Amino acid sequence: MNKKIVLLGSGELGKEFVIAAQRLGQTVIAVDSYDNAPAMQVADGREVINMLDGKALDALVAKHSPDYIVPEIEAIRTERLYDYEKQGITVIPSAKAANFTMNRKSIRDLAAKDLGLKTANYRYATSAQELQKAVKEVGIPCVVKPLMSSSGKGQSTIKTPDDIQRAWDYSQEGSRGDVAEVIVEAFVNFNYEITLLTLTQHDGNTLFCPPIGHRQERGDYQESWQPAAMQEDHLKTAQDMAAQVTAALGGAGIWGVEFFIGNDGVYFSELSPRPHDTGMVTLANTQNYNEFELHLRAVLGLPIKEITQERIGASAVILATAHSENPGFTGINTLATAPKSDFRLFGKPTSRPYRRMGVVVTYDDLNGDITEVVSRAKELAAKVKTT
Ligand SMILES: Nc1ncnc2c1ncn2[C@@H]1O[C@H](COP(=O)(O)OP(=O)(O)OP(=O)(O)O)[C@@H](O)[C@H]1O
Ligand SMILES: [Mg+2]
Repeated sequence: MNKKIVLLGSGELGKEFVIAAQRLGQTVIAVDSYDNAPAMQVADGREVINMLDGKALDALVAKHSPDYIVPEIEAIRTERLYDYEKQGITVIPSAKAANFTMNRKSIRDLAAKDLGLKTANYRYATSAQELQKAVKEVGIPCVVKPLMSSSGKGQSTIKTPDDIQRAWDYSQEGSRGDVAEVIVEAFVNFNYEITLLTLTQHDGNTLFCPPIGHRQERGDYQESWQPAAMQEDHLKTAQDMAAQVTAALGGAGIWGVEFFIGNDGVYFSELSPRPHDTGMVTLANTQNYNEFELHLRAVLGLPIKEITQERIGASAVILATAHSENPGFTGINTLATAPKSDFRLFGKPTSRPYRRMGVVVTYDDLNGDITEVVSRAKELAAKVKTT
């Protein structure tokens, strides 16, 4: 069963996916907009193209005729994926999933309107004027996000009416693609937020990983931990919502479904139809299979019977501090000698401030103290500096 996989996006999550695929003897062509991206370093082949360019994508797919197309990022001309599906290529998890999640409007309307899931109250706006009106309707404070963006790009919180024009201008700088529209969401004063990794399979058996807690700063996660302590009924509600959204989008794979948990219950936020960055905590072998192995097995149609938690764990990101064309690290020996921990350095060819260059994971046995495991991960990550 040697299958050919075209991986669209070659970051650190893609790299772990390729490693999982190599371990089961698959062939992977890793694609990105720049050469020597992390996943390319471990793949069988590489292609450098602009994935927002439909013609370039068509040429790539024609050249390789893969069995599977596995998107690793959102910035892809996803409309083309429907055609590849028609040609008999399996898109992971499905063309619809990749296409809907690249635009916040499609996924939010699906969740809130079609499925009736609880989300933050929201409106859309295509100009600063419309934003004024939308902000009145959802109320202050509220969060403005470009419809097409990720990692918090172009996203800001409106705290007073004076912030509205600035929020609009900022959203236009951070927007990717051809859409000027934004979503404005009521600010959810949540107690904590989670990622619920959800596995959909060809045989219809949908499974859930233990919930992952995380903390966000500047639009990206800083630490994540598993399991996140949460009330049983909140977990059931989140699982039920995740099952509904993933079923509506279709296909097999791992999904990172994001929720806010407030005093008034569970809010669906958004989801990624692929391994999630906060799920790097599973690299601490917190589960019988990490999120990348689960994704790969779902892709190949290898049945997973159960997902078990084997340890508790945490992850903390290693961020670059400066621009470099040849990034290096100091403090690695501290990581290497720390007990009950591990780390990854992604091999990114260049750095810029706050670029994610690596991750530290820590763990303990199941009756360990999750707070201790998280602080250990944070402390270790803080000992590493990039040069
Ligand atoms: N309505 C909201 N109320 C309160 N906090 C919010 C709201 N929307 C977003 N946030 C905060 O901002 C973070 C990023 O938001 P969101 O996940 O929508 O953006 P993103 O750019 O898609 O991020 P990523 O691609 O990194 O997941 C959330 O994890 C949450 O911490
Ligand atoms: Mg998010």
